[in-house]
Amino acid sequence: MQRVDTVRLAQRCMEMCDALAKCTEEEGHITRTFLAEPTHEAHRLLRAWMEQAGMAVQVDAAGNLRGVYAAEVGNAPRLLMGSHIDTVPDAGAYDGVLGVVMAIALVEGLAGGKLNYAIEVVAFSEEEGVRFGVPFLGSRALTGDAEPLLERADADGISVRQAIRNFGLDPERLAEARVQQPVLGFMEMHIEQGPVLESLGQGVGIVEAIVGQSRLQLAFTGRANHAGTTPMHLRQDALVAAAEWIALVEREASATAGLVATVGQMQVKPGAGNVVPGEAVMSLDVRHADDTERRMAVELFLHRAQEIAQRRGLMLTHSIRMEHSAVQMDVALTARLEAAAHAVGQHPLCMTSGAGHDAMVMAQQFPVAMLFLRSPGGISHHPEEAVLVEDVAAALEIGCQFLQELENR
Ligand code: GLV
Ligand code: MN
Ligand code: MN
Repeated sequence: MQRVDTVRLAQRCMEMCDALAKCTEEEGHITRTFLAEPTHEAHRLLRAWMEQAGMAVQVDAAGNLRGVYAAEVGNAPRLLMGSHIDTVPDAGAYDGVLGVVMAIALVEGLAGGKLNYAIEVVAFSEEEGVRFGVPFLGSRALTGDAEPLLERADADGISVRQAIRNFGLDPERLAEARVQQPVLGFMEMHIEQGPVLESLGQGVGIVEAIVGQSRLQLAFTGRANHAGTTPMHLRQDALVAAAEWIALVEREASATAGLVATVGQMQVKPGAGNVVPGEAVMSLDVRHADDTERRMAVELFLHRAQEIAQRRGLMLTHSIRMEHSAVQMDVALTARLEAAAHAVGQHPLCMTSGAGHDAMVMAQQFPVAMLFLRSPGGISHHPEEAVLVEDVAAALEIGCQFLQELENR
């Protein structure tokens, strides 16, 4: 493999992220949910870059854009790399996207030279769970596990199946998206999205494990009534119950080491200033590196919600939207990534990821490894999300060496 100019490639990655940031549903903000219209333009850009790098590109039935860089011989195993291109509302430009463009850059760095394995770069269509309340639609198609999600509906009542059709794809072909063996593994590069690397003055980290997460929806149902005529003691106010419960969730999570719990979304009905709220529907996101701790926390939060509902004469319902156990990265593939880092004179921090990643799903069937890049200010899921070009160059250097290590396996 010839020497790669990782500084130039890193600059190119920044430019590619800038270009993708313009593919948005909201003028002046970055919002790109599962298979929304701007995804077409994102695919057009990515396809062009992948083809320039020598990849054969197609879009699978789950909307994942996939570029295959052939091996020097047929029938060789393949290394998967990539991340997601959907975003949270009003997102930054790097969560997910950076991992896709860096994977393309690594293939560009090969300058047409072939390896004894193929590389498939995947731009996953969905990881955030924003549109359908359930994450990993893209990676679940690669592991053959997306079928049960097809009838889920978004806020407008459009099903996953219909969203796929509306994008011009055929949901009946979902099974074909499944990755065929032999696969060497999946390597994902991603911003840390937290403050740890920065606080230690480190540019790059290696992920050892990803925390488990539970995502739920809860609804307090009381009775809507006139805000002027209903005395305080005769109300069944769903929003006040929700407020009491949310404060309790914060208190309990703060008192438990390693636990994070978030209510990030709420709809209040009927939603008028002069009406006592009759219904409050909320999301709950709970994460911990220890699955038992996480499950216990979810049980406690549900129990407390039930108590509040009972005391206030309300009804409580809930559904579990997603539950994912903590995931360990593959020991051998991670050791290879670490060896690659050492070979280029870097000593990345070994760490746990608090954020969910496509690697969590891919780990169910393939060896996975993850490289983290420092997040300036520890900010993510926010327009101020950033990455330093020198960290991108350092990570690309490890990535190039990692490809070489796999060549020598
Ligand atoms: C994805 O970004 C998540 O961890 O929620
Ligand atoms: Mn992400
Ligand atoms: Mn994210």
